[in-house]
Amino acid sequence: MLTLDLKPNSKNFSSHPSKHFLLCPRLFLFCLYFSLCVLQLASGAFAADAGNLYNTIFDVRAGNKYFDRQCSRCHGIDARGDDEIGAPDLTGRLRRANTTAGIFDILRNGVPGTAMLALNPDVPDSLAWQVVAYIESLSSDPANIDLPGSVSRGKELYNENTDCAECHMIAGLGGRTGPDLSTVGERLHPKQISSALISPDEEVAPRWWTMSITDQDGNFYQGHRMSEDSFSLRIMDVKEELYSFPKNTLKEWNIDKASTMPSYQGKFTASELEDIIAFLFSLRGGRKL
Ligand code: HEC
Ligand code: HEC
Repeated sequence: MLTLDLKPNSKNFSSHPSKHFLLCPRLFLFCLYFSLCVLQLASGAFAADAGNLYNTIFDVRAGNKYFDRQCSRCHGIDARGDDEIGAPDLTGRLRRANTTAGIFDILRNGVPGTAMLALNPDVPDSLAWQVVAYIESLSSDPANIDLPGSVSRGKELYNENTDCAECHMIAGLGGRTGPDLSTVGERLHPKQISSALISPDEEVAPRWWTMSITDQDGNFYQGHRMSEDSFSLRIMDVKEELYSFPKNTLKEWNIDKASTMPSYQGKFTASELEDIIAFLFSLRGGRKL
């Protein structure tokens, strides 16, 4: 549990901030660090920290185009590699990189001592990231993934034997106290779907944190964190009712970062789990249930 109290304590503010700035080495170091970050921002390193900022469907397409022109002669037009040249298959797990930033580094620096050369330095970072986005899209392209489960059995399980729809919506049907799953197959890799089912607490987006709120009259509210800024909070409770609070009317509020989704470890057999994963992974834009 984390308690947020953002009220500024006016007593701590000096009337001579400029003098304090020079006297306070920590503040000085912070400013130095901050300026370095801004400098980094100007280079491509920023995108590595923030994840790939160039990964919309348009970026993937631009990356694909560049790949066809510059990379396919070694890696193949389908990116499945070429044994004679020794260019590896890029559609599965990569040998040399397991992060987005790692792929970017390979493109920028090449693999010294091999036929894999660095990108031409004239290629802007934005285009390099688009190529990264294309390479990453290959490993979640359904054409490159064979799942053991059955989509139709998974669909039956989802609809008949589970409480999933109480919280989740697919194609307009279901609840709103969990993310809409209509296109979850585009957003998540089967491995991520599996860990969402087995260990939901592992990665919970701030939108799904639970807030417990007590106002100045002592009334208690609890719900998912819809939005929050310096002055206000919005939540949605389990009945899907929305509440909005100016922060200065609240006595306290706490954030719980655990998921409200139960773990399904042990509630399904291994093969049922595979079926549900196959079904969820099949949910893509334009598909109807
Ligand atoms: C002249 C042939 C050639 C060209 C052109 C080429 N590559 Fe490579 N690439 C290789 C070889 C060979 C390797 C394996 C290097 C090694 O031994 O690890 C490789 C490795 C890689 C890897 C690491 C794969 C892994 O499993 O870790 C990535 C990613 C990659 N290339 C992407 C690209 C991209 C993107 C382009 C186009 C901008 C490109 N390559 C152009 C030959 C090439
Ligand atoms: C009590 C409500 C609730 C139930 C029941 C529930 N979920 Fe969830 N689910 C959530 C919430 C909240 C999240 C988002 C927080 C998180 O990542 O755990 C979530 C996340 C997910 C995700 C990840 C989605 C994404 O976009 O990241 C998947 C997949 C998922 N649930 C599938 C299921 C399936 C399948 C079932 C039934 C077997 C189920 N859920 C039952 C509330 C629920």
